[in-house]
Amino acid sequence: MKLFFHLLVLFRSLGSLAASHVDSSQWQTVPNRFEHNPAGAIQHLLKGGANVDEYSGPPQPMMVIGAGLPRTGTASFKTAMDMLGYKCHHMIELLETNGKEELWHQHLVQKSLSFDEIMNDMASHGFNATVDMPTAFKYKEQINRYPKAKVILTVRSEEGDKAGKQWAKSMVNTILQLPRLLSSIPLSWFPRASHTIEFLEGSYAGVDLPMYEHEKLPAFYDSWNEEVMKTVNRENLLVFRAKDGWKPLCDFLGPVSEIVQANCARFIASGQPYPRVNDTDTIKTAMSFFTAFSLFVKAFPGVVLTIAVVQVFLKGSLKSAASRNKKHA
Ligand SMILES: *[C@@H]1O[C@H](CO)[C@@H](O)[C@H](O)[C@H]1NC(C)=O
Ligand SMILES: *[C@@H]1O[C@H](CO)[C@@H](O)[C@H](O)[C@H]1NC(C)=O
Repeated sequence: MKLFFHLLVLFRSLGSLAASHVDSSQWQTVPNRFEHNPAGAIQHLLKGGANVDEYSGPPQPMMVIGAGLPRTGTASFKTAMDMLGYKCHHMIELLETNGKEELWHQHLVQKSLSFDEIMNDMASHGFNATVDMPTAFKYKEQINRYPKAKVILTVRSEEGDKAGKQWAKSMVNTILQLPRLLSSIPLSWFPRASHTIEFLEGSYAGVDLPMYEHEKLPAFYDSWNEEVMKTVNRENLLVFRAKDGWKPLCDFLGPVSEIVQANCARFIASGQPYPRVNDTDTIKTAMSFFTAFSLFVKAFPGVVLTIAVVQVFLKGSLKSAASRNKKHA
């Protein structure tokens, strides 16, 4: 039954994979980069990003540094920052934009590129805000280069020690499944899969995130947030929950930029809701696709064997029926 479900998801994903070629305009609208596009996610994970960043303006200084861990409302935060007038870097950039994951692989795995060179690349492509992994894991380096930037620590909406537990659950249910899936046959046959695993392992190892020891995750969440609060100057830091909405974000960022101030005033006056981008389902569907694909290929020799056995058995019984008939004749 589970296999059937996975196969259903597989065919649905293949359908939307075909459809996503037809309607490429959906990549332009920000929330759709995260939602309802598991096929896009699959395509990018296996083939690499196809988008080209055509930014041609002057290099941008980093104005906002997101120090929060992934799975703390970062997709909504990226969307909000883009709406406010920033160009905000998020993990999705590495998946969608040609060559970006490679840059980080060179930095984290091959160690042939410094983080300064990554920051140069982000600046020359017009990014002036960052959030999510892998940039959040480098918040200290970003602050060193841009000491005036505002730092925002996105945290989960749950209170007390529930937050760490829910964060761990969300990590385990989504992105921490990736290395296992990508290292199973046949996904491991795609050259890009091993690169992605190395990139993920390199990113997590850099901050001692216990990716394979799930019971240690809640404590990691708490100590990460404490460390950020200890490290960053109080006046430069905002601890932000998605449920807090525009107000604290605007009070914190508005004074630094007229563009942001004007957008804030507009959003608050018109009652524009803070974006709620929930990419859980997209990630889960993409995972189901991987699992189904893997099960299908693994089951394939079994299916062929079964058909062969049934054929031989049928032929055998037909032959013996024929010889029985001959004897009778
Ligand atoms: C951020 O950079 C973009 C260019 O990528 C620029 O158009 C925008 O005005 C900048 N945002 C702010 C708040 O300065
Ligand atoms: C996001 O979606 C998942 C699955 O549909 C759900 O379990 C989760 O509570 C949602 N999260 C938020 C913050 O709405």
